[in-house]
Amino acid sequence: MLRLDDHPSGRHFLQIPGPTNVPDRILRALDHPTIDHRGPEFARLTVEILGGLKKIFQTSGPVIIYSASGTGAWEAALANTLSPGDRVLMFETGHFATLWRKMAGKLGLDIDFVAGDWQSGVDPALVTAKLAEDKAHAIKAIAVVHNETSTGVTSRIPLIREAIDRTAHPALFMVDTISSLASMDYRHGEWGVDVTVAGSQKGLMLPPGLSFNAVSDKALAASRTAKLPRSYFGWDEIIASNRDGYFPYTPSTNLLYGLHEAIDMLLGEGLPQVFARHHRHGEATRRAARAWGLSILCRNAAEYSDSLTAIVMPDGHDADVFRRKVLERYDLSLGTGLGKLAGKVFRIGHLGFFNDLMLCGTLAGVEMGLGLAAVPHRAGGVQAALEFLSDGVSAKAARAREVAPS
Ligand SMILES: Cc1ncc(COP(=O)(O)O)c(C=O)c1O
Repeated sequence: MLRLDDHPSGRHFLQIPGPTNVPDRILRALDHPTIDHRGPEFARLTVEILGGLKKIFQTSGPVIIYSASGTGAWEAALANTLSPGDRVLMFETGHFATLWRKMAGKLGLDIDFVAGDWQSGVDPALVTAKLAEDKAHAIKAIAVVHNETSTGVTSRIPLIREAIDRTAHPALFMVDTISSLASMDYRHGEWGVDVTVAGSQKGLMLPPGLSFNAVSDKALAASRTAKLPRSYFGWDEIIASNRDGYFPYTPSTNLLYGLHEAIDMLLGEGLPQVFARHHRHGEATRRAARAWGLSILCRNAAEYSDSLTAIVMPDGHDADVFRRKVLERYDLSLGTGLGKLAGKVFRIGHLGFFNDLMLCGTLAGVEMGLGLAAVPHRAGGVQAALEFLSDGVSAKAARAREVAPS
């Protein structure tokens, strides 16, 4: 018989960049008996969730919930708004952008895929240049991954919006926030995004299984004439049923209990506080990496991800061998290198249900693991993070007082 919690003692450290640690509060919410999804209690649950989701996505428009992983919501974004042969401008920021591009091709769309180095975000100047060239407005949509989970690089959505506006190009703007929503500031409404794609298993702290489209009026209008086939993913029927608190199919009732709890936790903490917490943990992790003498994959400090950090392995060392040793010895799961980064980087997830001491434990596991796997590095990464987390200035002052002669 398979044991689902095969960890010797104490809590397993799940520090991959999603699925993330599910808080006990959410686990307890999932545990409630399933109710009639056509009854009045369920309708109240849906209405509360849909109201809360608007706050999380920072939008006044509809948010659609799918019983699907994030990939389903990618497909829904494209299939609801576009027609076969439509041109889509996409950017090779990493593994997930490449997968979304592949899907768009399979759906019969014509993709202009701008090559990238997997260490940088989307260059807003390039967006302007591409759109300015497109005098006939053949490009129907621009699709960007906000936070590339494979690289730890964040594209700057407000700057990309400005770049689009500079050309007054009418293309729809689609953004994948699967590893940024509820971790990094993201404003669907204010930033003029037409379709936002998200998933349950990262900043929302839920198990995998739900995904989302937040939709603008412009995207809704496009969906009325779009010709790509869709049925289960069609927005119209879901939005119509949601008005009364229901779904056109059997929804994931228990995951929705968890989502209700997650929204309560996030809004209770306050979104600005949630974003500040992620930024602090991102910064502490980056300081640790620099102190170890290891390189952060992301080239540009303005594009650092606050939900994960991808760290480059020194030449001649396999990141997956290191990860395996860390798992076996310290019961700590780190993210693997994806696509062409396999074996070359490991990723530390610092998003979701997470706090200072969980980060310290994670960084301690990485530092001990580097020693165990004989990866060349300097000691002191954990110390650098501790100093930052405990406010370096006051910590140094305290030490100086201790050593000062009386
Ligand atoms: C940025 C991004 N986009 C899309 C996906 C695909 O989502 P899923 O694996 O939930 O289908 C992921 C998964 O990690 C992701 O990180």
